[in-house]
Amino acid sequence: MTPSAPGAPKPKQLRVLFATPECAPLIKTGGLADVSAALPAALIAAGVDCRILLPGYRQVLAQSPDCREIARFAPMADFPAARLLNGKTTTGVPLYLIDCPEMYDRPAGPYQDENGTDWPDNALRFGLLSRIAALLGSSASPLDWRPHVLHCNEWQTGLAPAYLRYAEAAGAATLLTVHNLGFQGIFEPGLVAALGLPADCFTPEGVEYYGKLSFLKAGLQLADAITTVSPSYAGEIQNEALGFGLHGLLSARRQRLHGILNGIDTGVWNPATDPLIARRYSAETLDAKQANKRALQQRLGLSTTTKLPLFAVVSRLTEQKGLDWLLQIAPHLVALPAQLALLGGGDGELERGFVTLAQRHPKSVSATIGFDESLAHLIEAGADAFLMPSRFEPCGMNQMYSQRYGTPPIVRATGGLADTVIDCTPDALADGSASGFVFHEPGAQALLAAIERAAGAWRDSATWHALQRNGMKRDFSWDASARRYGEIYTALTAERA
Ligand code: ADP
Ligand code: GLC
Repeated sequence: MTPSAPGAPKPKQLRVLFATPECAPLIKTGGLADVSAALPAALIAAGVDCRILLPGYRQVLAQSPDCREIARFAPMADFPAARLLNGKTTTGVPLYLIDCPEMYDRPAGPYQDENGTDWPDNALRFGLLSRIAALLGSSASPLDWRPHVLHCNEWQTGLAPAYLRYAEAAGAATLLTVHNLGFQGIFEPGLVAALGLPADCFTPEGVEYYGKLSFLKAGLQLADAITTVSPSYAGEIQNEALGFGLHGLLSARRQRLHGILNGIDTGVWNPATDPLIARRYSAETLDAKQANKRALQQRLGLSTTTKLPLFAVVSRLTEQKGLDWLLQIAPHLVALPAQLALLGGGDGELERGFVTLAQRHPKSVSATIGFDESLAHLIEAGADAFLMPSRFEPCGMNQMYSQRYGTPPIVRATGGLADTVIDCTPDALADGSASGFVFHEPGAQALLAAIERAAGAWRDSATWHALQRNGMKRDFSWDASARRYGEIYTALTAERA
């Protein structure tokens, strides 16, 4: 920020309410939680008064014993009564939690039950998040603190711009960040009344989408600005192939659409200070990385050899991630020879496929099904190379964590993967930019070719060390991106004024 001259009027501090369905470490299913923890903190460091709004899921309230009630909301439409609690995240960012036991006091995940089935009342659960976000952003808010900008994230907050447009008093400017267009929040039209929205919002200019109610479409249509999490993905979603049916709308609103690359939390993901790994290291002490490989092999029951490259995956197991291709070529990977460590959960068929593979090759392949933050850190530190063969990837966080941990990523050239990994070509090696392996064609064969290329490079220690060091010195911090968000907030606030 530009310092102001003595005596000049102080610039008004921007106030931003960051509404999100996940925030690490309180509740996490993927990269959205990492972004929701790190971006608000980076915004605060850049001088923005940013506060987070999050549902008070059971596990979140259990970790937030010091929260205090600051407002009550009466029942409305099909929403039960709710309370607003005030607290702080582990990094000190002000946090508002919605306490509504009927909606959020449940076991298992934020979106699904223990069998992986969506909670049947998700429209109401995230309608409530959207509605309270809009209310806090409006002149009818029960709080004195009023945001200039309501920053929404994903479909779960997509109805907030609709509430501000149709149901609440006017208020904050709105920005919606799309982290993954594959999740849209589509429900039966009959829910419009249950959500307390007027019938006249159910039009193509409002919340209607091919005869259904779509939270994401509503947000994309009605937010003052849209961002997504990498420049490449911002382009890709305007085309049919990756537009998930919304490319027409996104292309029509392209003047309002910005691609801003996610950063990473360089405090949480730092091999020199990480408390979750076996031995800390930096680009200057890369030999110490070996102790992490050994610890990882031991923990997973793999043979503790230094002679084979160890490839790794930490991922949601869904079609998006292209891991079915990995399963197809896994016998070739083992025969290279090489080792494979996978941590993930999701699709039952993929889970079974990797577990069976590991049973067949117990010393070379390990599959851990479930969510395990500390194992994810040890994998980043202990693996030689990291696999992300995604069909599409809005940004991706692990390829950035991997580069920081000296674990070159092998990625498909899509979305944020294309924007953050530089392929190991002779030219890129010569100019010191090569940081991983990038392949283009979707499919198992192109993935295998990239893995073979990586295995070859791993055997040439000069090349491998150069790749590791190039990746480790890159700046993936939030600084530049937080500034970019700040510029958009400022422009939206000026427009609103
Ligand atoms: P996405 O958000 O699409 O799942 P990202 O690459 O943006 O993909 O972020 C995934 C985040 O979730 C990373 O921090 C990754 O380490 C973490 N993660 C995914 N699956 C697991 C798991 N099974 N255990 C621990 N962490 C996981
Ligand atoms: C989504 C995307 C992922 C992105 C993350 C955080 O879950 O699938 O690519 O990194 O959101 O923005």
